[in-house]
Amino acid sequence: MPIPTSFRAFRIHNEGNVHRAGLEDIGIDALSAGEVVVKAAYSSVNYKDALAGTGKGKILRQFPMVGGIDVAGHVVASTDPAFHEGDAVLCTGSGLSETRDGGYSDYVRLQAQWTIALPQGLSLRESMVLGTAGFTAALALLRMQENGQRPDMGPIVVTGATGGVGMLAIDILTRAGYEAHAITGKFDQLDFLTDLGARQVISRHDLHWGQRPLENAIWAGAIDNVGDEMLNGLTRVIGPYGNIASCGLAGGIALATTVMPFIIRGVSLLGIASSGTARPHRDAVWAHLADAWKPAHLDAICTREIGLPELPDVFERMLQGGSFGRTLVRH
Ligand SMILES: NC(=O)c1ccc[n+]([C@@H]2O[C@H](COP(=O)([O-])OP(=O)(O)OC[C@H]3O[C@@H](n4cnc5c(N)ncnc54)[C@H](OP(=O)(O)O)[C@@H]3O)[C@@H](O)[C@H]2O)c1
Repeated sequence: MPIPTSFRAFRIHNEGNVHRAGLEDIGIDALSAGEVVVKAAYSSVNYKDALAGTGKGKILRQFPMVGGIDVAGHVVASTDPAFHEGDAVLCTGSGLSETRDGGYSDYVRLQAQWTIALPQGLSLRESMVLGTAGFTAALALLRMQENGQRPDMGPIVVTGATGGVGMLAIDILTRAGYEAHAITGKFDQLDFLTDLGARQVISRHDLHWGQRPLENAIWAGAIDNVGDEMLNGLTRVIGPYGNIASCGLAGGIALATTVMPFIIRGVSLLGIASSGTARPHRDAVWAHLADAWKPAHLDAICTREIGLPELPDVFERMLQGGSFGRTLVRH
């Protein structure tokens, strides 16, 4: 399939510390090198995209760069024998919009080593409703299970519950046989979170956990998207040999706690770094997401579908804590 001489891309610049980003017409040779050329069908919006696209977080290692940490579409050309014209593929993280041009572009050049053939059981659209958010939630659960988490140990709490990672984590935990609880700043979304599978919904503004290094254990594990005081509090209320998957920083990057949860209760703090996940783990996560862990409410979780021109508005709202579910980008 011929590649047009120019196409649209959402490009981020930084000249003399001045941030500038928007849609531009570029050609294929302007993109980072890669063996697999893909015509994008969908990408998605993640918190990291909002940080990069507004210049409010130091995400990009070089400029200019096309934003977008996720993309899915069809191969139009490949110099790697593993991929052929017409194949449906996806890529999340793996340096996109960090060290190489990302998915907010009508054509994308991917490295074959990080290109995933769309697993049977997922459509391209579903793969981007999941995107990095779903990948991260599933990676968190996979790492917790590898470290001994089991449903019979008790409920798992999810923070930042109405965000992309949060909603998908609640759905995935429920599908995997866990009792999921939700902590949210949007308590008016109680019914929505309950419909996703949350068996208890707690307002972030009503948390009173006490200040002792160890408080009464409330949950058997946690998937935390918030960080700072939230993560500090969680370390004190997770039960014996429970795991806390640290995914996010929506509430801040600090962490002040004591060693008591670790040396008295055997609690583990697991770091979740989706972008740099090694290929075997990456394949295992997508296999779970296409099968037993496939969220049952992807249509409801995809709360907004936009085109590339609407990205800046979505970024601003996201950074103000106004996210609700996943925003899909249709190319
Ligand atoms: N480690 C990784 O590889 C990885 C991958 C993806 C995302 N992340 C991180 O995970 C977090 C969630 O990502 P996302 O894409 O799901 O973002 P999102 O859709 O914007 O969701 C973030 C959620 O966090 C809560 N929140 C926002 N501001 C807050 C504040 N000031 N204090 C406490 N809670 C706040 C809100 O949920 P409620 O109103 O329901 O509380 C919000 O919906 C982000 O920090 C992101 O950078 C990390």
